[in-house]
Amino acid sequence: KGDPRLQAISEAIRVVPHFPKPGIMFQDITTLLLDHKAFKDTVDIFIDRYRDMSISVVAGVEARGFMFGPSIALAIGAKFVPLRKPKKLPGEVISEDYELEYGTDRLEMHVGAVQSGERAVVVDDLVATGGTLSAAIKLLERAGAEVVECACVIGVPEMIK
Ligand code: PRP
Repeated sequence: KGDPRLQAISEAIRVVPHFPKPGIMFQDITTLLLDHKAFKDTVDIFIDRYRDMSISVVAGVEARGFMFGPSIALAIGAKFVPLRKPKKLPGEVISEDYELEYGTDRLEMHVGAVQSGERAVVVDDLVATGGTLSAAIKLLERAGAEVVECACVIGVPEMIK
């Protein structure tokens, strides 16, 4: 709040009404990725927040958490852990089902990616119902990590009535 970079970041995100189905105001961060300054400012805001918080794990939620998480992880000296949709990870996984705004889904994490006691931040582009982030938090906590915070670029989007 009050950060002069936030307005330009907000303006760089395209809103697409009725995608992927009627009533959904889709928040499209691909236009943010095209704007170098806004993209860098977005990542820098998270880096500034997390660099001195002893975070050793940045966990990114497929797919759009993968677009912001690794840059944050590299800059703060943390590992990056992908939380993936079902049947994508080749190793042994733990999984959590969750309800989505439009359907149900599941997130999986590799066993051994996170050690007990590690401090983690979960990164995604957007939180709507919070179902996805809740599943992500459960996965990390089941592995013994402490989820310090969730980092999202976009908050609860407006709905079309
Ligand atoms: C979107 C978004 C978040 C999630 C937020 O992902 O990127 O991960 O929904 O919704 P929630 O807070 O209601 O759980 P989506 O499921 O569309 O997957 P994708 O990024 O792989 O397309």
